[in-house]
Amino acid sequence: MREIQIVPSVLPADFANLGRDITALHEAGIDRIQWDVMDGQYVPNITVGADVIKACRDYTDVPFEAHMMVYNAERFIDDLADAGCQMVIYHPDTLKHPHRVFQATRDAGMQAAIALSPTTSNDVVDYVGDLIDMVLVMTVNPGFGGQAYLHTMEPKIAQMRARLDRLGLTEMDLEVDGGIGPDTIAGAARAGANVFISGSALWKYPSFAQGVEDLRAKAEAAR
Ligand code: DX5
Repeated sequence: MREIQIVPSVLPADFANLGRDITALHEAGIDRIQWDVMDGQYVPNITVGADVIKACRDYTDVPFEAHMMVYNAERFIDDLADAGCQMVIYHPDTLKHPHRVFQATRDAGMQAAIALSPTTSNDVVDYVGDLIDMVLVMTVNPGFGGQAYLHTMEPKIAQMRARLDRLGLTEMDLEVDGGIGPDTIAGAARAGANVFISGSALWKYPSFAQGVEDLRAKAEAAR
């Protein structure tokens, strides 16, 4: 059974004190950190790039995954590798040649993953199972934290889990991102997700440690 992983998005962090927040997250027992990289073109928001990720690398030893809400993100593969990322998550609708980009990501020593915006078809994972290490089904429209969880994505999550299993990718992680909190994580877990991105909900807990523990327990109980 794929293990439950709780992965904070640093979108709600205090960007004037990122090192402090990353240290606090590290001490809370998180599994990884997701950096939401936005270009203001694919999504109506601009956030951080490889330089900021690199500046935070030494504040924790947990893996960094870069969620690229960016057109033609293959331009930044070497920068992200240099910044210390272990995984790059791409939206295929932002790439001209996804298969080639996944190969180049692996060649740079990083894992590649596919993110599906709400109306992106699950078909995008066909024929690239040998090149990707995770699939992310978005449960909000990409671009902002603090949005409401889209319950309508739960059948899509379940269909994606079934598709991955049918393709023999039974150990591949299935991540969800957007509106994940104490009231929504169980539904996403029941639908088949095992990796959970949480931003605003995690920041609302009295402590990161309490949030990570509560979310992990709720996900485990729902499976
Ligand atoms: C959207 C972002 C957010 C973020 C999580 O593009 O990817 O989903 O990571 O934000 P919350 O947990 O606040 O919905």
